[in-house]
Amino acid sequence: MVAAASGSSATRDGWSSRSAFILAAIGAAVGLGNVWRFPTLAGESGGGAFVIFYIGCVFLLGLPLVLSEIFIGRAGQTDAVGSIKKVAQDSGASERWSIFGGIGALAAWLILSFYSVVAGWVLYYVGVMGWDLLQAIGAGDPLRGALAGESKDVIEGRMGDLFASPSLLLVMHFAFMGLTLFIVARGIGSGIEKAATWLMPAFFVLLVGITIYGAFVGDMGQAVRFLFTPDWSKLPPAVMNSALGQALFSLSLGVAGLITYGSYIHEGSKLGSTSAAIAVADTSVALIAGLMIFPIVYAVGLDPAAGPTLVFQTLPFAFQTMPGGALIGFLFFVLILVAAITSSISLLEVPTAYGIGERGWSRHKSALIFGGGAFVIGIACLLGYNVWSDVRPLGFWSLFENTDILDTVDGFTGKVMLPIGALLTSLFIGWKADSRMVQEVTGLTGGMFVVWRFLIAWLCPIAVTIILITGLFPSILGS
Ligand code: PHE
Repeated sequence: MVAAASGSSATRDGWSSRSAFILAAIGAAVGLGNVWRFPTLAGESGGGAFVIFYIGCVFLLGLPLVLSEIFIGRAGQTDAVGSIKKVAQDSGASERWSIFGGIGALAAWLILSFYSVVAGWVLYYVGVMGWDLLQAIGAGDPLRGALAGESKDVIEGRMGDLFASPSLLLVMHFAFMGLTLFIVARGIGSGIEKAATWLMPAFFVLLVGITIYGAFVGDMGQAVRFLFTPDWSKLPPAVMNSALGQALFSLSLGVAGLITYGSYIHEGSKLGSTSAAIAVADTSVALIAGLMIFPIVYAVGLDPAAGPTLVFQTLPFAFQTMPGGALIGFLFFVLILVAAITSSISLLEVPTAYGIGERGWSRHKSALIFGGGAFVIGIACLLGYNVWSDVRPLGFWSLFENTDILDTVDGFTGKVMLPIGALLTSLFIGWKADSRMVQEVTGLTGGMFVVWRFLIAWLCPIAVTIILITGLFPSILGS
């Protein structure tokens, strides 16, 4: 840990192997974005068309960006701002490009603030379902449905009760942020890598297990039709914008997260296949999460378009009617919690690395300052559900007119900051970074390099700009 705090690359903390990096990066990518935000958005946007457009965004725009960010970190060997500066220097470009590292670190920090609040809800449901499971076991009926004897109103009302209680929300937010801080303060090798090595395999076992369960007790056919049959009329610019935002969010792009993680790779250069592994794993998890959740939603005739409460209000009721629901419901929330932790640590690591690299702070100090700061902003987000429920931070902007504090931070980072971060990354890498250096560090050659270059230099900037502008100013298209 001492080594990590020194900031010099010779003694800098790092991943123990290539597979450790891949696992940690997948851990960062797979999170609430996959198991909560993706099903919510897919449900709200009517399924197929959104999902297909999303997959296109991941592979045509996201994947080239994943490679670009990892390249910057691997070449720079320090925090995001310092790494971009180094690549700029070596390529004869202006150091001012490092501004997108700063924007990224700021976005990561803002995302962490509300991420921890939502993860706090998950923690609360782990408690509720865990308690229910204990009672089921105590009653000698461990395989009963969840929350036996409670009416639909009571079950759904739980979320309202939680939201109405600032202190309960605060305790959960505090616990989750504390855990994140604890892991990040321990550094890369003994903190982040260790957490990913233990938690990610557990996550995959739970994911596959619950999906198989859903296939037996739920309506898989209807879920597959919903997720994969496109109705293109359901793809207006605003939906495209949120699909792009979701692709960036889910791959942890535009927040310098992969620059930061990439900087802890000290040797090796198979970055192309590494990037592909991350994109494929993340997208598979999002799709599997859809196939885990929607069959259960349909089985009991619930509404897939329930919105952010889908996972919290809708599913517990579904678990009530299913055999083994108490157990599966509990495991389901544990799964989400696990996914959230391996992502929140990456969110905190970005500003923390910035504090270490650019301000010369120790790891402990930096993690504490940024973790503490995000905790405070998170408090504003959670008060937005009760005491400050009338507050509309960006109410003057029609896009965020009716958006509460948490959704504003989420929407502004996802729809504005991440696309801008992605745009600047693609311009910098596509037009400014020295091609020979890129080839050397990434190991990308021949046709692969040409395709990647085209995507990053042309398709990414053009597509991201169009989607960003039409999404933010729908009036341009007269819609
Ligand atoms: N990708 C994470 C998720 O899907 C969220 C995240 C965004 C993590 C940006 C790190 C950086 O939940």
